[in-house]
Amino acid sequence: MSFMLRKSMDRRATPTRRVAPASILAVASGKGGVGKTFMSITMASAFAQAGKRTLLVDGDLGLANIDVQLGIAPETDLAAVIAGWVELDDAVTHVDGGAGAGGFDVLPGRSGSGALAELPPEEVARLAAGLSALALQYDQVIVDLGAGIEANCMRLARACDKCLMIITDEPTSMTDAYAFIKVLRGYAPNVEAVVAINQAETRASGQRTYEAIARACQTFLGFRPALAGTVMMDPKVREAIRSQKTLISTDTQAQPVQDAIAIAHALMADAPSAAVGY
Ligand SMILES: Nc1ncnc2c1ncn2[C@@H]1O[C@H](COP(=O)(O)OP(=O)(O)OP(=O)(O)O)[C@@H](O)[C@H]1O
Ligand SMILES: [Mg+2]
Repeated sequence: MSFMLRKSMDRRATPTRRVAPASILAVASGKGGVGKTFMSITMASAFAQAGKRTLLVDGDLGLANIDVQLGIAPETDLAAVIAGWVELDDAVTHVDGGAGAGGFDVLPGRSGSGALAELPPEEVARLAAGLSALALQYDQVIVDLGAGIEANCMRLARACDKCLMIITDEPTSMTDAYAFIKVLRGYAPNVEAVVAINQAETRASGQRTYEAIARACQTFLGFRPALAGTVMMDPKVREAIRSQKTLISTDTQAQPVQDAIAIAHALMADAPSAAVGY
């Protein structure tokens, strides 16, 4: 089943007054292709399923692909916002999670948009401020960042409360993740870095990968990032992405889906609720 699109205006018909904006979670990696978008989408659905009003932002400014993995063709996106054609909240699209999965709002990007990839710093700052304002309407915001440690990626990360590092056991993934954490510590010391190991062949190997990165952080940066959880390797993830259907909507019991849901729940348990009803 494909995700259903609906403009989000009607979804916001029942406002909830908040004493603080939603917690904003960046999903980052350093190295590309490790599973950030898969994790972001699955966790967004898990947060929504748990009753959290959730916004998923495509923060991969040059090579957006949340819409591709969701199998949706949004009418508007961040590129239209930057061009001044629509306001930020009008670029939000609602997706119905399908059977057994929560529906959530998406702020899509536009793949291959040079305008987004080369945003000047003041535009990124404006976007970050807009996201913080938009966060007032949600319980949880997830920003799926682009790979790498280039300036715009770090600027977006700085606008978040917490940064979930997705790391695999490949040495390049580990060294690039360490580099990201190091730059983040210097550039945005208030943003807490936590770690999720993805594509683990066994729980034990996942734990070893975590220990290696935690040890490097402890030795050279003087702190030990927490482990949010380990996600097992399963060819079902690739198959789901190829068919542009989310795995959580077609196979909720698949191990990587269950693992990502557990991570979302661990993050929820860590974040105090700031919402108060009318
Ligand atoms: N748990 C998993 N098990 C098996 N394969 C996985 C898993 N997670 C991710 N993959 C594989 O990794 C590929 C990349 O996933 P995804 O697009 O989510 O990564 P990404 O970090 O967002 O990439 P990019 O940096 O290009 O945005 C998927 O197409 C899939 O084949
Ligand atoms: Mg991605």
